[in-house]
Amino acid sequence: MDYRAYIAERLSAEGVTKEEFKEAIVVPPDTSLGDYALPCFKFARTLRKPPAKIAEELAARFGADGVIESVAPVNGYLNFRISKKGLAEEVLSRIESEKSKYGSSDMGGGKVICIDYSSVNIAKPFHIGHLSTTVLGGALYRIFNFLGYKAVGINHLGDYGTQFGKLISAYKHWGNREEVQKGGIHAVNDLYVRFNNEATEEMEAEARDYFRLIENGDEEANALFDWFKEITLAYVEKIYRRLRITFDSYAGERFYTDKMQPVVEELEEKGLLAESQGAKIVDLEPYGMPPCLILRSDGASLYATRDLAAAIYRKNTYDFYKCLYVVAYQQNLHFKQVFKVLELMGKEWAKDLVHVAYGMVSLEDGAMATRKGNVVWLEDVISRCVEKAKNILSEKNPSLENKDEVAEKVGVGAVVFGALYNNKIKDIVFSYDKALNFDGETSVYVQYTCARTNSVLGKARESGIAWMGSEIPEPCPQEAELLKALADFPDAVRNSAKNYEPSIVARYCVDTAQKFNKFYIDCKIMQAETAQLRAFRLRLTEATLITLTNALTLLGIGVPEKM
Ligand code: ARG
Repeated sequence: MDYRAYIAERLSAEGVTKEEFKEAIVVPPDTSLGDYALPCFKFARTLRKPPAKIAEELAARFGADGVIESVAPVNGYLNFRISKKGLAEEVLSRIESEKSKYGSSDMGGGKVICIDYSSVNIAKPFHIGHLSTTVLGGALYRIFNFLGYKAVGINHLGDYGTQFGKLISAYKHWGNREEVQKGGIHAVNDLYVRFNNEATEEMEAEARDYFRLIENGDEEANALFDWFKEITLAYVEKIYRRLRITFDSYAGERFYTDKMQPVVEELEEKGLLAESQGAKIVDLEPYGMPPCLILRSDGASLYATRDLAAAIYRKNTYDFYKCLYVVAYQQNLHFKQVFKVLELMGKEWAKDLVHVAYGMVSLEDGAMATRKGNVVWLEDVISRCVEKAKNILSEKNPSLENKDEVAEKVGVGAVVFGALYNNKIKDIVFSYDKALNFDGETSVYVQYTCARTNSVLGKARESGIAWMGSEIPEPCPQEAELLKALADFPDAVRNSAKNYEPSIVARYCVDTAQKFNKFYIDCKIMQAETAQLRAFRLRLTEATLITLTNALTLLGIGVPEKM
């Protein structure tokens, strides 16, 4: 129920629209006076009356009903108290009928949202720095689909560039097939790191030649390149599966090899291309930015050139409503430049491109990525977290069945949630202990709350108690707070999409779990005074489980039945 809209619909004053009323309604920090409030100060000028008088007149004309229980003017505010019973009826029946669809909507109307995320680099480590883009993108992908958009997940692979020449050169000098086959991505990465540490001038020149061979379609060079790519993708797929990440397209940088020339020509035709020291650039000085490099003096294309081609290709292929780039804030300038160049090319859709920037993730006890091979592999972080989760679970619940399966959900969930809980632009320091704290603002806490609801519902089922469709009593404050939280879920999902901010859903999970636990501790469920009250509380418990499960699922986090 959208209470703001409901209240606004029933307010009337000459010169103020329903929409203006709706916008003005707030949730007071202290809900003891009311659940919603309308500050009347901003209408004083339009209505030419003091706020207190406006509040009184609005109150007099407002008919309370089964939804809004009471209306009271206090010092220029109009306070509304909603009927908790009406709320309970509305929310519970909605959750019970919509189940796994609760919180979804068709507001997207099938409009396409391209989401460029994870975008791994072939033959390079998939490290902790890729965590945020992968899980933020994955969450946005699910959230937009949940809201009726058609999300297209794109892994814009980093599979283009001189590093592949280096890799081939390193392989030719130091590698052999069996070792690479056996060592997989780590062996490939070792070769690359060794090249960066030990390559001679000659090998550097050789690497450039190999890169040219790849470019020119040389069979052997391309076969090696494809092999390295295959090894990388097989490796990252395993991690994607653990993180519940999927893609619709793996069109990476290399895919645009033959799509850049037309872009260069178009830039030329539109008079946007300038020469600078032999290179081709688009001058962005009038916009306060350094020039966007399009072709190097040797004619080679750049990262930006491929992004220009990719944006145009995506528009032509998907006719997107929005195209999101979930990429670290270090690339702010890059995307500003690319978007500006597209705008200058007259692409009116350039306004629909959004750089969803996020901050850095580092480990409490570890270093960040460097080119010299001192990297924290994401897989190691995940595995370590799962192992720690398993230890904690064994201690807390020695008789737990499917321990490995539960530990996987808890450990992976903790890594994902750690990256999603804070406002995405913040830098975060990941700590295993904090992420696995059962009493913290963590996924484990939320998962544990779900397990608790399952255990209550299981006991009720075992005792043959039915709760569906039971009569609803007047809710107590703890029940009312939980009900309001449950009612807020659809809003939380919409807001997270609007702001490209999955943390809104993550915070919602913790907040709602806290409200449930307060209810659980203060109100007896199975031992409730009457059968009617017990049934109502069981309905609340089940509705909490459904809502939290939907929320965690949107984030890509599994929900163990028992913990
Ligand atoms: N592979 C790039 C990197 O690791 C990220 C690519 C982001 N997407 C894009 N269209 N530029 O930095």
